[in-house]
Amino acid sequence: MTKHLAAPTTGAAAASDRPGWWRDAVIYQVYPRSFADGNGDGMGDLPGIRRRLPYLAELGVDAVWLSPFYASPQADAGYDVSDYRAIDAMFGELGDAEALIRDAHGLGLRVIVDLVPNHSSDQHEWFQRALREGPGSPLRARYHFRPGRGERGEEPPNDWESIFGGPAWTRAKNPDGTPGEWYLHLFAPEQPDFNWDHPAVRDEFRSVLRFWLDLGVDGFRIDVAHGMVKAPGLPDMGHGEQLKLLGNQVLPFFDQDGVHEIYRSWRLILDEYGGDRIGVAEAWTPSADRTALYLRPDELHQAFNFHYLNTGWDAVALRAVIDESLDSLRPVGAATTWVLSNHDVVRHRTRLGGGLPRARAATLLMLALPGSAYVYQGEELGLPEVTDLPDEVRQDPSFAKSDGQDGLRDGCRVPIPWTRGGTSHGFGEGGSWLPQPEGWGELSVEAQTGDPDSTLELYRTALRLRREHPDLGAGDAVRWLDAPEGVVAFRRGAFVCAANTTGRPAPFPAPPGRVLLTSGPYDGGDLPADTTVWWSA
Ligand code: GLC
Repeated sequence: MTKHLAAPTTGAAAASDRPGWWRDAVIYQVYPRSFADGNGDGMGDLPGIRRRLPYLAELGVDAVWLSPFYASPQADAGYDVSDYRAIDAMFGELGDAEALIRDAHGLGLRVIVDLVPNHSSDQHEWFQRALREGPGSPLRARYHFRPGRGERGEEPPNDWESIFGGPAWTRAKNPDGTPGEWYLHLFAPEQPDFNWDHPAVRDEFRSVLRFWLDLGVDGFRIDVAHGMVKAPGLPDMGHGEQLKLLGNQVLPFFDQDGVHEIYRSWRLILDEYGGDRIGVAEAWTPSADRTALYLRPDELHQAFNFHYLNTGWDAVALRAVIDESLDSLRPVGAATTWVLSNHDVVRHRTRLGGGLPRARAATLLMLALPGSAYVYQGEELGLPEVTDLPDEVRQDPSFAKSDGQDGLRDGCRVPIPWTRGGTSHGFGEGGSWLPQPEGWGELSVEAQTGDPDSTLELYRTALRLRREHPDLGAGDAVRWLDAPEGVVAFRRGAFVCAANTTGRPAPFPAPPGRVLLTSGPYDGGDLPADTTVWWSA
C-alpha cells in the first residue's frame, strides 16, 4: 500500500500543486452512484469514475470530492457506513480506490473523500454487538442508548425529531425479544448516532483518518460535522417544531461547542501527514460567525457555505450574503467557499426559478467570487432537477416536507448523460438505477462538447480563466461598484463582474477593457436579464 503518497505527483500546471491550493480551488463533487457505471450493473462505481477522470481534468477542476463509497447497506445512499475501511462491493474494492487516487494525482487532481462520523449503519459491528449483548453492554455506551419515558418505557427518552421525520429514537428489542432501550438516530433508524463522549469512538475515527490518509487522499468532507456532540443530558428541545435539514435554529444536537475539540485533534493528524491535506465541514450552523469557528487556524480548512446556497437570486440578498461570508471568515484567516448545488438540494437550474439562463448567470457570479467553489456533477451540463420520478423508483429515506423542494432528494441524483444515445446515455451498459428523463441526451457531454454556446463549454472557459487571471478566485474581498437596482457588480483588481438578477435589461456601463466571458448574449449595451458578464478592465 502506498504510504504517505504526496498529492499530485505530475500535472505541472496543476493549481492543486500549490501550497494552500484549497483556498481558491474548484472542487467537483462526484456522487458515485450516478457518475459512471464501469461494470454495467446500473449503479455507478469507482472503476467508472476512474475512467472519466480525464474529463474532470479537462474541465479544469482542481479536486474531486467523492460522496461515500464505503461498505453500507445503502439505507441512506451510503451515508450509513457499516465498515469505514472497506469499499462497498457495489462500488468496487480497495484496489479500485487506490488506483483512482493514483490516476487522479497523475492528472493533477486532488481527491477528497467523505467521512461520516456522526452515525454508523445499524449493521456496523459495534451496533450489532450492542444490540445482541443488551442493556449494560459496553458497546451500547458507544451509541446513545437510553431507557424510555413513561411507565413501561414506551415513550422516547426525549422529544428530538429525526431530520428525515418522526422521532429521533427507535426502541430496540432486548436479546429475549421484549421491548428494550431506545437508541438515538438524528437521521434514519438505520443510522444510529455515535456517542462522541466515548474515547473508543474518538480513537476509532482518528484511526480511520489515518487509514485513508495512508491510501493517499488529500482530505475529508466531514458529514454532519456540526452534529457529533450532543448537549449534556440530551435535554428536550422543547418547541416541538418540525426540523428542516436546512434549518438555522439553535438545537441541543447541532453546533455544540464540544465539536471543536474533535477538529483540533484531527487537524494535528492532517498536518502530520503534510501535503496540504484538508478537512471540509458540512456544518449547518445558525450563522456565518458560528461557521467561522470550525475554520479557526487549528481546526478545519473549509466549510460549505450553505448560507450562500440558501440565498435566492436577489441582488440585495446576494450582496449581503457575500459580504457576510467574506467578513465572517477574515478574522480566522480562512478562505470562503461557495456552492449552488449538491446531492441534498434541488439543482440550482430548477431551484433559482429562472431556467438555464439564470443558472448560468448564477454560476458565473459564483465562480467570480474570491475563495473556493464547489461544483456538483451535472451542473456543468446545466442539468435540471428531475421532478417527475415515479414514487416507486425513489430511494431517498427523507420524508416529504413541503418546504418548496419536492421533499425528496432523488431528483438531483439521476445518473448523468455522457452521450446522446446508447443505454443510459453512456452512464453504463446496464441502464441506470434512477430513470433518466426524456431529452437527457441533448444535455450530454457529447452533445455539448465543442459547442461554444453550451453550458459545458461555459464552465470549461470559466475554469480556465480562473486559472489564468490573477484576480479571479484569489483573495478575500470584493469592491462593490455602483449598479442599478437588481444588479450585483464588483471589482477585484483588474477584474470586473456584473450580474443582472432581474427579468429585464439593466443599464450598466461596460467598464473599459475587454469582455472575458458572458453567461448569455451581450452586445456591450444594457446588461440583459439574468446575465452575468466578466470583464478584464
Ligand atoms: C448529510 C449528507 C446527506 C445525508 C446526511 C446523513 O447531510 O449530505 O446526504 O443524508 O448527512 O448522513
